Amino acid sequence: MSKEYNELELQKTYIEKVAKLNNTYYEQTGKRKSFAVLTFGCQMNAHDSEKLEGMLVEMGYDKASSEKEADFVIHNTCCVRENAENKVYGNLGILKNLKKSKPDLKVAVCGCMMQQDTVIEKIKTSYRNVNLIFGTFNLHRFPQLLHTSLETNSMIIDVWKEHDEIIEDLPIIREFKHKASVNIMYGCNNFCSYCIVPYVRGRERSRDVCDIIKEINSLVSSGIKEITLLGQNVNSYGIGLENPTTFSGLLREINKIDGIKRIRFMTPHPKDLSDDLIDAIRDCEHICKHIHLPVQSGNTEILKKMNRHYTKNSYLALVGKIKKEIPDVTLTTDIIVGFPGETEEQFLDTLDVIREVKYTTAYTFIYSKRTGTPAAVMDCQIDEDVIKDRFGRLLETLNSGIYELNQSFVGQTMSVLAEDVSKQDEALLTGRTDGNILVHFKSEKSAIGNFVNVKITDCKTFYLIGEVC
Ligand code: 5AD
Ligand code: SF4
Repeated sequence: MSKEYNELELQKTYIEKVAKLNNTYYEQTGKRKSFAVLTFGCQMNAHDSEKLEGMLVEMGYDKASSEKEADFVIHNTCCVRENAENKVYGNLGILKNLKKSKPDLKVAVCGCMMQQDTVIEKIKTSYRNVNLIFGTFNLHRFPQLLHTSLETNSMIIDVWKEHDEIIEDLPIIREFKHKASVNIMYGCNNFCSYCIVPYVRGRERSRDVCDIIKEINSLVSSGIKEITLLGQNVNSYGIGLENPTTFSGLLREINKIDGIKRIRFMTPHPKDLSDDLIDAIRDCEHICKHIHLPVQSGNTEILKKMNRHYTKNSYLALVGKIKKEIPDVTLTTDIIVGFPGETEEQFLDTLDVIREVKYTTAYTFIYSKRTGTPAAVMDCQIDEDVIKDRFGRLLETLNSGIYELNQSFVGQTMSVLAEDVSKQDEALLTGRTDGNILVHFKSEKSAIGNFVNVKITDCKTFYLIGEVC
């Protein structure tokens, strides 16, 4: 029996123990304990939260209708930027007050923030209301830790500095019925100078091809149509496996799965996006013709200081190659404004790249100083006023480019996976094109979960408008 299997079996025994406690509570009170999982940060965290929810339901908890109603609140935290951290502290403060009127309220915090010693110290001194703390490497231990926490009144802290094993087959509750995320690897080896991720998520490790295919097969047979493969840098997928393989090799295997309709992935690093990957995207019918290609900055000097290993020209050359091979490709990106020492001219290079590439969406961030990263101690941190001014101009340039691109889709008919009722207008459905562009369109609710052909009749900056044809 493998060690990994033992670990899963061990956690199952704790799931049963907690479920027993919860059943006794139910028998005594006629009520089930309820939970709320609050997720901060990226899709990787959202996917971890699906596992937390899966374990909680097996342990006999019900999902609460809101955080306020919950008997147990878990924060799955992010530390990529300071404002994500501040939101967690703000929330822990609110719960501290709530606990005065609700003494049985349990609070847990886990995820990336917990991998930093300074955070643990702050929680220990300022948020004594927290019952349980664990990190990114021992999420699978949640049942055992929760059981210990339920048996004591003191704060339980268990944060590991590293762990190479990948625990498969944890219980999971998927957020959506038609699309699902699948981790293909964990960790990051790139050490971009501004980024805390490699310090809190550890070194790269890939899941076995067979485990990934098995998971996708079961998702597809349960009706999932769109799969998003997740990794911090999917281009290094497969390195270090017993039978080393490549990301494009994995994609070609997944493309063969019977019944799969759409395959997406994020994130590929521009420094090592291979020709083979471009060919795979072009050739495989189920791989969406959309690439999220974070540029971060358009200036070669800044890219060097960011430790990104590409230049303005090599990035643009890569984009040129992608567009030549996959003419209908859509590109999206991440951009950071106000990296230490960024001059006006260097910022203008970023605007230049935006105008040249023509992204369909971009995630824009103000540089956030992360203690422990090389950029945090670089000279010339930029003034807040200068950053705000640049951020405004960045959005103007981006939005006018996106609107122009969206206008070029008007008149086209696109295949859209209908996902939900529009939040802005109950009469409309919302869905996404192959290129991941948001579309609002009039249709019966019964179309949700299906592909529909939509004729694009109009557009706004952030979405297309259309009608079923
Ligand atoms: N400040 C601002 N943005 C950051 N990102 C990562 N670290 C920082 C930071 N310190 C952004 C990058 C990355 C995205 C997930 O978050 O653009 O691609
Ligand atoms: Fe952070 Fe760079 Fe790794 Fe992305 S590739 S997670 S930005 S260090």
